[in-house]
Amino acid sequence: MIAILDFGSQYTQLIARRVRELGVYSEIYPPFKEPEELPLDKIKGFIFSGGPSSVHSPNAPFCSPKFLELGKPILGICYGMQLISKMLGGKVEKSQKREYGYAKLEVLDHSDLFKGLPSRFQVWMSHSDRILEMPEGFKAIARTQNSPIAAFKCEQKKIWGLQFHPEVVHTAHGKEILANFVFSICQCEKNWSMEDFIEKSIRDIREQVKDAQAICALSGGVDSSVVTALLHKAIGDQLIPIFVDNGLLRKNEAQKVRETFQRLGVKIHFVDASERFLKALRGITDPEKKRKIIGETFIRVFEEEASQFPNARFLAQGTLYPDVIESVSVWGPSATIKSHHNVGGLPEKFDFELIEPLRFLFKDEVRKIGELLGLPEYIIKRHPFPGPGLAIRVIGEVTKEKLDILREADAIVLEEIKKAGLYEKLWQAFAVLLPVKTVGVMGDERTYEHVIAVRAVESVDGMTADWAKLPHEVLQNISNRIINEVKGVNRVVYDISSKPPSTIEWE
Ligand code: XMP
Repeated sequence: MIAILDFGSQYTQLIARRVRELGVYSEIYPPFKEPEELPLDKIKGFIFSGGPSSVHSPNAPFCSPKFLELGKPILGICYGMQLISKMLGGKVEKSQKREYGYAKLEVLDHSDLFKGLPSRFQVWMSHSDRILEMPEGFKAIARTQNSPIAAFKCEQKKIWGLQFHPEVVHTAHGKEILANFVFSICQCEKNWSMEDFIEKSIRDIREQVKDAQAICALSGGVDSSVVTALLHKAIGDQLIPIFVDNGLLRKNEAQKVRETFQRLGVKIHFVDASERFLKALRGITDPEKKRKIIGETFIRVFEEEASQFPNARFLAQGTLYPDVIESVSVWGPSATIKSHHNVGGLPEKFDFELIEPLRFLFKDEVRKIGELLGLPEYIIKRHPFPGPGLAIRVIGEVTKEKLDILREADAIVLEEIKKAGLYEKLWQAFAVLLPVKTVGVMGDERTYEHVIAVRAVESVDGMTADWAKLPHEVLQNISNRIINEVKGVNRVVYDISSKPPSTIEWE
């Protein structure tokens, strides 16, 4: 495997994914670990990521100099390269000006990292500091107009460095550069495939569970669906997936999930708790209170259902790798560990052993596994859906009547987006029911009914988002259909706010 030391770059996870796409396993570590804390026997090489800091800043993240003495190949990218230079006695120039965007790279040495590549190609730069003097024993292997040392190497120390980002798609031949590092320089074998992963997971799960039972909370989202399908493949009916219908799901959602898993031969323990959730939400308008009530009700329902299976010793969860990576905080040297509770925070007192088969996978790898396990496209490619469901899209108090209106409107939004071939281009698209009524006219009659807001956003990770510039024709179809087909709505508006400052959800 390749170990990546994370110096805080927004691209760190992308580096790991690129290496995995090459068929080589990679993991991300915080730079303050000592080398002996890492699985050195498995690590064939290191990549030092970029990062937002300057090596001259007092809070700049460092790593143990022992990493440079291990004799294993290292590739420093951007900040990673500057840090190596500084640690080995080179001179890094502090610059206020940022070089950002495309640059033309001229290769000076084709012998290893740039083997088989053209002499000139485009690369993507994003740095302020740059290397003025290389450490002793290093030589420049590529340059650009602004950076005479756009790449360097020291064969004797087995260290390479790139001022630009090979992991982003804007860098031509980035994949080949990484492949040269991973295969020719580090001598890794191509042995990471999702097919192998499934086989190995199945073996591990069988060994862990033996003849006991396992439960999981199936929501119909990608992660819990893949966990369910994977565990079912491993232990068959010893897995009891519990599906809680909280009455806050989209139109026909419970039915679709039931049918999908029936087709795969998975028996689901269905619980219709919609009345209970609605009752708990009665009179509540505050969004955070709604979330809290829904989370707590879910736990109680899940506990009660789980207690019907006294032989269930294991709880399977769809925790993913980005949720467990220990990352350096961009704002300081301290370590932050993100915690994640997939099932809305199941309490500690739950006396289950955890099974988290996806904890080393990225989302796109999870999707690939879902595909290989025979899950339909509609599950694998679906947009994220919040745990509190439509309760945070009915603004104000949640009632059955309002939920039904929203469900119909939401179904039309999704249908039209899919019909226009836009579904996969969007991060999310949905309807929101507003707590106001407005005047309209239908035929000869005056109406006084609800407003639906349509939200559609583009995003990479949900942290920032742009409102989608949907074609007017699509918006027109959505609006016409909602007003004509959904009883109780006489006006549709489109949300043209981006995140930040607006959030994706309205509550
Ligand atoms: P916001 O509204 O914060 O949403 O811009 C970012 C992403 O998170 C989802 N979201 C939630 N997911 N429980 C969830 O499981 C929640 O309470 C929740 N609130 C927001 C939202 O759909 C978007 O994808």
